Amino acid sequence: MPASTLDIELLVRETFIARVEHHATLGSTNDRAKECAVEGADSLPLLIVADQQTSGRGRGTNRWWSGPGSLACSLLLEVNQLGADRRRWVLAGLAAAAACVQTVAPLLRSHKVGIHWPNDVFVEGRKLGGVLVEVVREGRLVIGIGLNLNNSLGELPPGLQKTAATLLELCGRRSDKTQILASILRHLAEGLGQLACWPEQVGARADALCLQHGRMLTIQRGGRSICGRCVGIGSDGGLVLDTAEGRRTYYSGVVR
Ligand code: BTN
Repeated sequence: MPASTLDIELLVRETFIARVEHHATLGSTNDRAKECAVEGADSLPLLIVADQQTSGRGRGTNRWWSGPGSLACSLLLEVNQLGADRRRWVLAGLAAAAACVQTVAPLLRSHKVGIHWPNDVFVEGRKLGGVLVEVVREGRLVIGIGLNLNNSLGELPPGLQKTAATLLELCGRRSDKTQILASILRHLAEGLGQLACWPEQVGARADALCLQHGRMLTIQRGGRSICGRCVGIGSDGGLVLDTAEGRRTYYSGVVR
C-alpha cells in the first residue's frame, strides 16, 4: 500500500526537522527510529512517520493501536542537544505531550484537553494520545508520539472504544495531518529549546496543563502502590502527591 499524502517539504522547511521518512506501514516508528540510530543516521533530527503501525508500543508493557487515519511518528535526536541531565529526558516527554495539547486545544474549544502524567493527552477522561520516550544506547533519544487523529472510535479495537477519544469525532471533521504534525513540531521545538536553558519552564507548562490536580491517584512502582492527592507536576517533571507519609515526588510508575 503506498504511503498517504504528507507534505514532507513543508515539514523540513517550516520545522526543526532535518529529514523525514514516511512509511505506509511499520511495526513501530520508535523501533525504526532506534534502528536508524544504531545504523548511525546523520541529518538529525530525523522524523519517522507511519500511516499505520502493526506493533505500536506504549510505556511499560502497553501496546498502542494505530490504524489508518491515526498519527504515529517518532523523532530521533542527539541527546547532547538536550544536555546530559537524565531528568531533562523525562521533561522531554512532557514537552511532547504539552506540544500535542497546545496543537489540539484550539480545535477543541468546548472540551477540556490536557496532560495526564507522565505524558498522556486526555480529553474529558478519554485518551487522545500518548508519548513514548526511549534513550538509545548510542546517546540518542527517541520521542514517539501517537495521536488518534482522523480515525473514528469504531475502528479501534473494542476494548479501547470506551477509553479512547479521536480528534475526528471530537471536531466532527478531518484534520490535515501535515499541519497537525508541523504544529506539534513547532511547539516541541520551543519546549526542547527551553530544556537546555530553563527546564523548569517545561515542568511549569506541563503543570498548567495537568488535568489531575486535586485528584486521588494511585501510583504503582516496584511492586508497591502508593495513594495520594495530586498536587501537580513539579518543575523537574515529577508527579507530586500528598501521601499518608507526606508530600512525595515520583519520577516513574503507572498512575491510576
Ligand atoms: C503510551 O500510551 O504509553 C504511549 C503511546 C506512544 C505511542 C507512539 S505511536 C508512535 C510511536 N511508536 C510506537 O511504537 N509508540 C509510539
